[in-house]
Amino acid sequence: MHVLHVVGARPNFMKAAPVLAALARVSGVQQTLIHTGQHYDSNMSDVFLQQLEMPPPDLNLDVGSGSHARQTAEIMSRFEPVVTERRPDLVLVYGDVNSTVAAALVCSKLQVRVGHVEAGLRSRDRSMPEEINRIIIDQLSDLLFAPSEDADQNLRREGIDASKIHRVGNVMIDTLVRLLPRSRRYKPDDLPARYALVTLHRPSNVDDPIWLRELLVALVECSQDLAIFFPVHPRTHQRISELGLPQTANGRVCLMDPKSYLEFLALQQGATVVITDSGGMQEETSFLGVPCLTLRENTERPITVSQGTNQLIGRDISLLKSEIRRILSGDTKKASPIPLWDGHAAERIAKVVIRGQHLL
Ligand code: UD1
Repeated sequence: MHVLHVVGARPNFMKAAPVLAALARVSGVQQTLIHTGQHYDSNMSDVFLQQLEMPPPDLNLDVGSGSHARQTAEIMSRFEPVVTERRPDLVLVYGDVNSTVAAALVCSKLQVRVGHVEAGLRSRDRSMPEEINRIIIDQLSDLLFAPSEDADQNLRREGIDASKIHRVGNVMIDTLVRLLPRSRRYKPDDLPARYALVTLHRPSNVDDPIWLRELLVALVECSQDLAIFFPVHPRTHQRISELGLPQTANGRVCLMDPKSYLEFLALQQGATVVITDSGGMQEETSFLGVPCLTLRENTERPITVSQGTNQLIGRDISLLKSEIRRILSGDTKKASPIPLWDGHAAERIAKVVIRGQHLL
């Protein structure tokens, strides 16, 4: 059996790594790894492949950046001949980025089976580009690997046949469980006792200069009470340079280059609070029991709010400040373990993939 995996952007790597490893343990499975090149900076891609111990990609499509239409179209036109030549039995796609939807579209038109890892997540906010991608990817997929019960319900509600849906748990947590012990070596010696870890990259936060400035000013104010570490995504870096960090920043908000997986995990585990708009961090903080304030109006991962440590802050600066104060006072939300977020999701995916061989 030949399984071809498609990755392209930073959050894909942590999801694909455990599935590649689980299928590598099964005899008779040939695997191909295609990197679309959506993320191309070494600190957004290469360092992740190395630390996650992924095999080097068999091919990099080198698509780079562009508008959504251009990037998606470029991935499709470069990926189509790869599928035609390599003739995989199954293509596995991950998450909700442009690389994922482009690959799913190509495969479904070539009638190659597609498996979607992290199926069924819905924010119900179509202004979010990833939501459009999620809906399309799930409609086109033959195997839907859902991380949680809400995800299967979303899929069934959209008319997807129950036989295609497999609730397997969360592959990102597989990677976290595996690498958490190793990440402790990456903890800086001079970390303050209390600090916030901040990340922002969603267009809804960083592409609006008035809101971005307000947020930065709020972070500067919060830095009087606790240190702030802010690894900056390339898109955000560009926006902050256009804006100029508010004068009052005075070096208290520590802007840094994007961190490697292990460095970042060490920072996340020790944080007093995480302030973010990332999807993956809502999940990781819930697993780690670290309070998470999400700078979004909605989430496609509601289980992190109902059972985890996540809280939606939206665009409410005063709520952000009062929640930080509450967390600093020691009043934190308690999380309960989320079913199947146990480090074994990829093994469950491998079982389904192998079982499905007879369908080929
Ligand atoms: C993409 C995903 C988003 C995911 C995020 C994680 C889509 C629609 N969005 O957003 O869901 O949460 O990745 O990071 O697929 N850039 C660089 N170097 C790189 C990559 C990007 O400088 O290695 C810059 C480019 O200027 C580019 C911008 O960042 O235009 C945005 O990159 P892009 O891949 O389009 O989207 P992300 O914002 O990273």
